[in-house]
Amino acid sequence: MRRPLVMGNWKLNGSKAMVADLIKGLDAQLAGVEGVDVAIAPPVMYLDLAEQLLGKAESKILLGSQNVDVNASGAFTGDISPEMLKDFGATHIIIGHSERRDYHAESDEYVAKKFAFLKEHGLVPVLCIGESEAQNEAGETVAVCARQLDAVINTQGVEALNGAVIAYEPIWAIGTGKAATAEDAQRIHAEIRAHIAAKSEEVAKNVVIQYGGSVKPENAEAYFAQPDIDGALVGGAALNAESFAAIAKAA
Ligand code: G3P
Repeated sequence: MRRPLVMGNWKLNGSKAMVADLIKGLDAQLAGVEGVDVAIAPPVMYLDLAEQLLGKAESKILLGSQNVDVNASGAFTGDISPEMLKDFGATHIIIGHSERRDYHAESDEYVAKKFAFLKEHGLVPVLCIGESEAQNEAGETVAVCARQLDAVINTQGVEALNGAVIAYEPIWAIGTGKAATAEDAQRIHAEIRAHIAAKSEEVAKNVVIQYGGSVKPENAEAYFAQPDIDGALVGGAALNAESFAAIAKAA
């Protein structure tokens, strides 16, 4: 049985006060909620504070990060290493988000390198894949997702996906309020799983595939009722404790 993961990607939002408020609110709202893993990925700057607050509250919320770089240490100005993330208790690391692919020109190959580096250091890659609006309209959705996945599978073997998380995020649905319907998302998730199953049914059966893109308390339940949707990667709605907790509860 796959355990759903609901993860909040805070993106470039936050302050010390906001971290404290959100963690306090989430902990209160999520008390007694079982059967779902909940993770938050604040900006890396706030991992220290988040780790301290989660520890003090003996919280079950997992800590994540929105990015990692591909060097372990040395003369790499501005880079963040897996061991640094681990040092602050981060376990689930988002890579390949479309915002990084677009604004930072991260290629499939570079994202795959991050994937391998995280695995090497015992961290959970949350690998984002997904198509643009134009690709969607051209009927290229599955091909784009397969290409992004194959960058990992063809270099590291399908078993590399064991213990990792895939987040299917159609770019046109991110932050637009134009979410994919639960049925459309299910169809793509099933195709993604089938693509992996062609290499290993076992890996495909066990890998968690989240949906991301305008997930809200109002539509969360419909996604989680689908057999191949194992949780959500949430942006905007993760900045409000009540909304994010409602999504986690729906899972
Ligand atoms: O990584 C999550 C994100 O890209 C989805 O954002 O605001 O549409 O929930 P949002």
